[in-house]
Amino acid sequence: MIVLDHLSKTYVGSAGAHEALCDINLHVESGDVFGIIGQSGAGKSTLVRCINLLERPTAGRVLIDGADVTDYSGKQLIDLRQSIGMIFQNFSLFAQRTVLRNVTFPLELHGTPKKQAEARALELLELVGLSGKANNYPSQLSGGQQQRVAIARALASNPKIMLCDEATSALDTLTTHSILGLLRDINKELGVTMVVITHSLSVAEQICNKVAVIEAGSIAEQGKTADVFGNPQSAATRLLIEADQGFACAKGGN
Ligand SMILES: Nc1ncnc2c1ncn2[C@@H]1O[C@H](COP(=O)(O)OP(=O)(O)OP(=O)(O)O)[C@@H](O)[C@H]1O
Ligand SMILES: [Mg+2]
Repeated sequence: MIVLDHLSKTYVGSAGAHEALCDINLHVESGDVFGIIGQSGAGKSTLVRCINLLERPTAGRVLIDGADVTDYSGKQLIDLRQSIGMIFQNFSLFAQRTVLRNVTFPLELHGTPKKQAEARALELLELVGLSGKANNYPSQLSGGQQQRVAIARALASNPKIMLCDEATSALDTLTTHSILGLLRDINKELGVTMVVITHSLSVAEQICNKVAVIEAGSIAEQGKTADVFGNPQSAATRLLIEADQGFACAKGGN
């Protein structure tokens, strides 16, 4: 369903050129929860932003359901972005809008009548367990609740794909668990294909059926989550596992 075909991305700035992604080849099947895992600066966000063309690839192609979307612009691009929801580490809610108005926002952009947009938003707030918070402002919610609003907003236009960029990195362990559970339910019950960016092995293990390990802009290895983490083939994966084990030991020692 999502194919990245020989994808590369070079940023050019005043400091010169930086190759953030180099010859990436990935196949995400419909219904997958596909993890992209790697250290800070490895190119994870760049990769996921190439899928909805927030970043334009320098070379290679992005195919969605067989259609080459790489050069989409105008109405085609707007329609593509409607079909791909995205959530971020910092929730990115509109502070001046109520919870309800945050969720109706993408529907307003799409010209959905107000009553219909509100009904849909209330339905989604119920789905994410926030029915009682429709008239609150984001600042009146906990981090986990704010991420639930962001998830409801991402689902408003019925996307078939959801991109999650470090969606639980700002949350504590219990809240992370509940948000991952919600994402898993959305994948299973609504059939939304997910690409989950994370630097956390445990997040990938909890939710992803497949993972790709990315290091310095290249895919070090990819496959079923249990295979990649159970029998790592690359130094990059072994390093992530060791770092995770070291972190677990350090936590245990406290
Ligand atoms: N707009 C930009 N202009 C120039 N370089 C950029 C830009 N965005 C990212 N980069 C560089 O590209 C590389 C990959 O960045 P990216 O944000 O994709 O990493 P990441 O894996 O998401 O890291 P993190 O885990 O810290 O979020 C980094 O070296 C970064 O400095
Ligand atoms: Mg990032």
